[in-house]
Amino acid sequence: MSNNLPGKRNPLQTKLWLSNFGLLMTVLKTFVFGIFLVLLYALFGDSFDFQKTPIQSGNRVSNSVAMDDDWDKVENGIHLQTGLIYDANFDIVRAHCTACHSGKLVAQNRATREGWLQMIRWMQETQGLWDLGVNEPKILDYLAKNYAPEEVGRRTNIDVAAVEWYILELENK
Ligand code: HEC
Repeated sequence: MSNNLPGKRNPLQTKLWLSNFGLLMTVLKTFVFGIFLVLLYALFGDSFDFQKTPIQSGNRVSNSVAMDDDWDKVENGIHLQTGLIYDANFDIVRAHCTACHSGKLVAQNRATREGWLQMIRWMQETQGLWDLGVNEPKILDYLAKNYAPEEVGRRTNIDVAAVEWYILELENK
């Protein structure tokens, strides 16, 4: 008399089979979940912009490289990044005058050499600008030459006698 009747497993075998089945299901579930994740990424992956760079089309290879290129360029005598006029003393001025504020703050001002010297002294006394040493005359050369007061502060006066006057007709009914 044996327990091993055909078609009937003994309890140990059943237990083994069940535990293997459980393992198999775990593997299967993991696999299915993996596929689910891959699908999810395939569908929505584009909306996670990990690199924070716009997808480039056309022939621009890399956004940042192209930007840097433009950035340090001189166009029509103006250094684009600082907005300052480019000449022999530009590098010194850039090193000393764009450390605390934009070069545009410099470029939008006009003064004589004396006026520029006063601004520099003011920044040294109140804003912590350092001693410019041997570079000071070069910086002043640059500023006095490139950012001198404009000769013509406003347009020349209209010669009233030479103007041909006409009556402006406004239809106002
Ligand atoms: C240590 C920091 C520092 C450095 C370096 C510096 N500045 Fe300034 N500068 C300042 C501060 C701070 C102000 C005031 C900014 C404001 O008002 O917003 C200023 C203002 C100015 C102004 C505007 C003045 C006004 O009346 O509005 C000019 C022009 C200027 N700086 C030119 C220069 C030049 C030229 C150099 C190089 C020689 C230079 N700065 C270097 C700190 C500095």
